[in-house]
Amino acid sequence: MRYLVTGGSGKLGLHLCAKLECVAPSHAAFDILDKTALVRSFERYDVNAIIHLAAISDQKLADSRRDLAYAVNVIGTRNIADAANRHTIPLFYISTDYVFPGISGGYRETDPPAPANFYGWTKYAGELEVRASGCEHLVIRTSFRPDAWGFPTAYTNVMTSAELARCVTHCHVRGILHVGTPTKSFYDLARRRHAAIEPEECSDPCFPKRRDLNIDRWLAIRGTTPGT
Ligand SMILES: NC(=O)c1ccc[n+]([C@@H]2O[C@H](COP(=O)([O-])OP(=O)(O)OC[C@H]3O[C@@H](n4cnc5c(N)ncnc54)[C@H](OP(=O)(O)O)[C@@H]3O)[C@@H](O)[C@H]2O)c1
Repeated sequence: MRYLVTGGSGKLGLHLCAKLECVAPSHAAFDILDKTALVRSFERYDVNAIIHLAAISDQKLADSRRDLAYAVNVIGTRNIADAANRHTIPLFYISTDYVFPGISGGYRETDPPAPANFYGWTKYAGELEVRASGCEHLVIRTSFRPDAWGFPTAYTNVMTSAELARCVTHCHVRGILHVGTPTKSFYDLARRRHAAIEPEECSDPCFPKRRDLNIDRWLAIRGTTPGT
């Protein structure tokens, strides 16, 4: 399989591109907002599938530049989904646990999204664009586990189920899929890589503390014990 990866220079993109056979044009070479250029350049890439990562993923930036976040995360996704549909190429759209409010955790694919912030809303709207385009697609909701924990402390009471979107190559299913590892706190996650990390309680009432996803469908597809 040869993949066209949008947003290949980003955090997730760099990781994925190191593992997959792909073409990952830069933002400058392949601006997902430039519909005309996108249609033109699309013809050049001989690919079997698209992994769409390009986004405004910084939540503070998404909030302060709502126009930009809406354009890239919603309209840009629409452009990519339309192209996928036109070229009958399957699309993997990387979405996020932020489509849920982060209150009760254990969210299933069938649970109704109710994003807690503007970033989450734009990613959910991106999901709807993918679905409306009619292209063959898999929406992968996941969270990201950085190789290095960039802080001296990590929250003990914020739960996650982080795993990189390694399912792309495993998946022949379509629709929505939650991908992750068993639920754990940020602290448990961080101290695997840095034993000296200090525990901290998150006291911000607005911070979504139960963002963990129910991953039963993913486990059934993988058919093996997941990463921890
Ligand atoms: N990081 C996470 O924790 C996480 C968790 C779940 C899901 N996701 C999703 O995974 C995807 C990747 O996240 P990430 O953390 O890797 O993001 P990132 O590091 O912020 O990278 C975003 C990428 O999008 C590109 N981009 C932005 N606007 C573009 C445009 N108009 N046209 C083409 N490319 C554009 C950026 O290129 P330039 O830098 O050159 O502008 C960059 O390569 C996003 O869709 C995000 O919502 C991320």
